[in-house]
Amino acid sequence: MELYRAPVQNGAVLTIEEVGLEQLDVIRELNRAIFDEERIINTFDRDDLMILLARVNGVPVGFKIGYRENSRTFYSAKGGVLPEYRRQGIARQLLYVMMERARQKGYRRFAYDTFPNRHPGMAVLGLTEGFRVTRADYNTFYRDYRLRLEKDL
Ligand SMILES: CC(C)(COP(=O)(O)OP(=O)(O)OC[C@H]1O[C@@H](n2cnc3c(N)ncnc32)[C@H](O)[C@@H]1OP(=O)(O)O)[C@@H](O)C(=O)NCCC(=O)NCCS
Repeated sequence: MELYRAPVQNGAVLTIEEVGLEQLDVIRELNRAIFDEERIINTFDRDDLMILLARVNGVPVGFKIGYRENSRTFYSAKGGVLPEYRRQGIARQLLYVMMERARQKGYRRFAYDTFPNRHPGMAVLGLTEGFRVTRADYNTFYRDYRLRLEKDL
């Protein structure tokens, strides 16, 4: 289902759609290109699983996956944009669309974790969007510091 459509740079058109697990191959390819890993998220067996796919002129360029954390909070588990399509506002638009869908579903809070040393973009984006840091810890698997950011919907 298409949720967003608007022009970005050079007259190209950005669309954001909600897709189902049948589109996992497209997401897997993007995940590989962006994160250089096979694992997307640990499990897709989640309540209110939401998979957003961003395309520019029909070409898949980014994704964002979220799900119910608890009755109040929607959790964005992973997302990214291909390097050659960055800094055009695509991640920001994916965030807006996911937050709005979560709000429509009755969630009151939106949360995600991020590793600012590895990927500074999502921490900066969240802070500029009014998110607050609600937890900071050291992740032994990734051997790096992790921030949790949250915002009321
Ligand atoms: C982080 C990421 C999703 C941002 O995607 P994007 O489409 O380029 O982001 P946007 O264009 O919407 O950026 C919106 C704002 O976020 C901030 N931002 C984005 N990338 C940034 C970076 N590398 N460094 C600092 N700030 C950044 C800026 O404030 C930017 O606004 P501006 O371009 O007007 O300055 C993308 O760089 C990416 O996929 N990175 C690798 C994977 C990743 O980090 N995933 C998130 C893990 S939690």
